[in-house]
Amino acid sequence: MAPPLAASAALLLCLGSAAAVWPQPQHLSQGSASGGCCLSASRFRFAYAEGSAVAPGCDVLDEAFRRYWELLFPAAGRRDRGNDRSEDSPCDVLNVKVTKPGCSGFPSLDSSEIYQLTLSEKEMLLTADTVWGALRGLETFSQLAWEDDVGTHYVNKTDVVDFPRFPHRGLLLDTSRHYLPLKAIVKMLDAMAYNKFNVFHWHIVDDQSFPFESTVFPELSQKGAYNPFTHVYTPMDVKRVLDHARLRGIRVIPEFDTPGHTQSWGPGVPGLLTPCYAGSKPSGSYGPVNPILNTTYTFMSALFAEISAVFPDFYIHLGGDEVDFSCWKSNPDIQTFMHQMGFGQDYTKLESFYIQRLLDIVSAYGKGYVVWQEVFDNAVKVKPDTIIHVWKQNSGRYPNETAWVTKAGYRAVLSAPWYLNWISYGQDWLEIYEVEPLAFKGSAEQKALVIGGEACMWGEYVDATNLSPRLWPRASAVAERLWSNKTVRNRLDAYARLADFRCTLLRRGIRAEPLFTGYCDHEFDGV
Ligand SMILES: *[C@@H]1O[C@H](CO)[C@@H](O)[C@H](O)[C@H]1NC(C)=O
Ligand SMILES: *[C@@H]1O[C@H](CO)[C@@H](O)[C@H](O)[C@H]1NC(C)=O
Ligand SMILES: *[C@@H]1O[C@H](CO)[C@@H](O)[C@H](O)[C@H]1NC(C)=O
Ligand SMILES: *[C@@H]1O[C@H](CO)[C@@H](O)[C@H](O)[C@H]1NC(C)=O
Repeated sequence: MAPPLAASAALLLCLGSAAAVWPQPQHLSQGSASGGCCLSASRFRFAYAEGSAVAPGCDVLDEAFRRYWELLFPAAGRRDRGNDRSEDSPCDVLNVKVTKPGCSGFPSLDSSEIYQLTLSEKEMLLTADTVWGALRGLETFSQLAWEDDVGTHYVNKTDVVDFPRFPHRGLLLDTSRHYLPLKAIVKMLDAMAYNKFNVFHWHIVDDQSFPFESTVFPELSQKGAYNPFTHVYTPMDVKRVLDHARLRGIRVIPEFDTPGHTQSWGPGVPGLLTPCYAGSKPSGSYGPVNPILNTTYTFMSALFAEISAVFPDFYIHLGGDEVDFSCWKSNPDIQTFMHQMGFGQDYTKLESFYIQRLLDIVSAYGKGYVVWQEVFDNAVKVKPDTIIHVWKQNSGRYPNETAWVTKAGYRAVLSAPWYLNWISYGQDWLEIYEVEPLAFKGSAEQKALVIGGEACMWGEYVDATNLSPRLWPRASAVAERLWSNKTVRNRLDAYARLADFRCTLLRRGIRAEPLFTGYCDHEFDGV
């Protein structure tokens, strides 16, 4: 573990880092101190550039313009909002030009996020291939703007060409171990956008509770949620999350983990879980999903038909981790089935049998899937476009897993070093920051199969009281690792920019914990 950074790094902050952008753009240049713009709340506005393929009425940009105006001028009243056109100068407008048409859809793994910012007193222009890239550029612009001691806003002469290193930059939230109110989820989506994260991995159900309100199987949440009225996500709630995420260029990948991690499913669907035996009699407790019954697959077909329709992303996360075989082993019907199928005593074969059928069901709905690494480890036959989620820390040997997964030709998403629910005293963001996702033995083709990573926030000890400070700015370290050039890893520079960015997060109402000693101009004043 790296030694804590000394207080000297904190001093760098006070020297005025107007160009502190987090995550660090691929190319950013700022000329001499002259040639920037003074931004006036009464005159400044965002506009669609002439020749832009996307025009006013595009909700993604219309609403982003509104949000970012308020972030730029937090103290200004709405009435001031760029309405004074009396002396229009190039410094009064950030023109936004999107070259490819399209605003109504959802972002996807293939969406371009490249953008270019040209800021000077002669012209302020943001160009991007897509609206999603334009969102990233607006975020950068908002971070480049700074305020002096008397409250005047500036943006220095700057040129930025920027794009993400990895296309999949995710955050996992667990809403089963503890219920997270909609407000908390929505706020984390805001913080994700500030960090240029683009995937919300919604680990929505698990053993402890089933808060997803299914319209096809309402009993799942009626009997499986902590409280079927107050601790559920209704179809409207889910739609709000999807809309809020889309407007920020964030994909939502839901996870319905089976066959393990399903205790909460049991009460709502009699016969779904395997009855465990004590000797020759059922013990009264239940294990993983019962893989030997046809009714199991009929149920899964109907449930995943609904899930596939509700969540627009191409990918669904199907879990497949940590299946405990002891209950299956105790059950005589399962033993008979194992014998009939010629599985011997190898229960991974039974798990594979289940997962195989589930994957076939989900692909029939035209969906792709992400699975935890055990599915690959157990040699389940999966479609070539499957994404394997590497999560086992394995004493630091997870790069081996990434090597094996990519050697087999599958794409990989990395989470093993980024379980942020684990905490310790000191600056553990450094360890998170210094991970290099491609540091494994493998060919260039293999490296190209690593599409990104996810910071995970498992919920055993986390609810809305401590979610935000535990996540931020530690998850920001992951955000930069996944966005910026791999050569961006100078600790002192990162410390200064991250401490500054953390103050930005506070200013924006995100409860982000401190990295070390110091202060922010605008301290968090929530109680
Ligand atoms: C931005 O411009 C101001 C003066 O307009 C200057 O004092 C400051 O050093 C500049 N910042 C950077 C990072 O160039
Ligand atoms: C389960 O389905 C299979 C294949 O569709 C069929 O051969 C078998 O008879 C069914 N089993 C029962 C118990 O219905
Ligand atoms: C697995 O990891 C160990 C330790 O990092 C390394 O020595 C070994 O070469 C790796 N094996 C493979 C197959 O990559
Ligand atoms: C990352 O930075 C290195 C060193 O500055 C540079 O050679 C490389 O081209 C950069 N990568 C990209 C994708 O721009």
